[in-house]
Amino acid sequence: MGGIPKRTQVVIVGAGPSGLLLGALLHRHGIDTVLLEQRSPDYVLGRIRAGVLEQVAVDLLDEAGVSRRLHAEGLPHGGFDLCFDGQRHRIDLHRLTGKRVTVYGQTEVTRDLMAARAEAGLPTVYEAEQVSIHDFDTDRPRVCFSHQGQAHEIACDFIAGCDGFHGVCRASVPTAALHIFEKVYPFGWLGLLADVPPVSHELIYANHERGFALCSMRSATRSRYYVQVGLEQQVENWSDDDFWAELKRRLPPETAAQVTTGPSIEKSIAPLRSFVAEPMRFGRLMLAGDAAHIVPPTGAKGLNLAAGDVGLLSRVLAEFYRGSAAGIDSYSERCLKRVWKAERFSWWFTSLMHRFPDHGAFGQRMQHAELEYIVSSEAAQTAIAENYVGLPLG
Ligand code: FAD
Ligand code: PHB
Repeated sequence: MGGIPKRTQVVIVGAGPSGLLLGALLHRHGIDTVLLEQRSPDYVLGRIRAGVLEQVAVDLLDEAGVSRRLHAEGLPHGGFDLCFDGQRHRIDLHRLTGKRVTVYGQTEVTRDLMAARAEAGLPTVYEAEQVSIHDFDTDRPRVCFSHQGQAHEIACDFIAGCDGFHGVCRASVPTAALHIFEKVYPFGWLGLLADVPPVSHELIYANHERGFALCSMRSATRSRYYVQVGLEQQVENWSDDDFWAELKRRLPPETAAQVTTGPSIEKSIAPLRSFVAEPMRFGRLMLAGDAAHIVPPTGAKGLNLAAGDVGLLSRVLAEFYRGSAAGIDSYSERCLKRVWKAERFSWWFTSLMHRFPDHGAFGQRMQHAELEYIVSSEAAQTAIAENYVGLPLG
């Protein structure tokens, strides 16, 4: 990389999907950015996370000019299966909403964005250490960090906090200025990635007495599966064989018989959490993506919300540089409207599909009654489908 600039318009902290997409969108508006990431590119690409893109995310990747491979390799899905009592029931997203979602992994989105950023020669500092943000309550924010043993400071107009749940940006806001809303679930998801064909051409979300299971995919030859596990579980104690056996127990016998097993490429446990920090803007600091909010992955919303945030952020920053600060002032409120809708759906779908240790017999019967209602009601299925395919950016 060339020298690290001493001044830019927007410093973006974090090169996950939020930070990279924001950088690409701002570049289209002619706005300069420097992107700072604490990890290496390989580390960032090694994290296996989301798999389902809503139309809003696809549209933004189109706008950013980084969707060629997504359109060539992404898998359009017009429905998914809800499974309980050993039966699969299809939710027909396309018939109910006229829309589809696209299965294309977060890793690939990130890879495409990284390649486009490198090709455009935009300044990116990987393995930036001790990133700290300053003076964002004034018109002259600064970001300090060290890189390869050298201290650096960048002056900027805005700081975009795209540094995820554990990042430095939200943590730098005075606690009295933040409202935190949080729910931690008493379980996690054990995920396994393997180069085997998926069991079904669409996703299967399964409610089972042993716990939730999800059959997903990355391509026609790569599968992603999850099973709900207790918080005390450690990934080291799960052999691949243990995982496959547990997954099959949670699926109807005919479906289990069709699962192709194979060695894992990746296996990890993710805790489940709902979290919102309000507001999403403090002076010249804007938070976006997981830095501001977390949803449990059941609704496949995390990455899509992140894309929505940076889509809006790129627009209000472009408006600012054209002379109007009105958009900046409404950024937080507009994002939070979408965020709370997705929080509600993700919480509801998580509550519907998982075993809760404290649910008791009544809670389980309610869950079952709700599942039966859904499969008998077009209105209930439409509501799920509308939430699952997501909202336009507006
Ligand atoms: P991140 O992807 O977290 O990126 C933030 C980046 O900031 C990281 O690269 C990090 O290294 C960097 N960073 C952090 N601190 C600093 C610092 N101090 N200085 C510089 N850089 C910093 N969503 C789904 O829809 N489906 C799923 O299956 C799913 N699975 C998930 C599994 C896990 C374990 C996690 C954590 C999330 C999962 N999500 C899932 C959510 C989805 O992946 C996130 O919503 C998405 O990654 C958000 O992108 P982001 O860029 O905002 O944050
Ligand atoms: C995934 O493929 O990783 C995935 C898909 C749907 C979800 C969550 C994760 O709801």
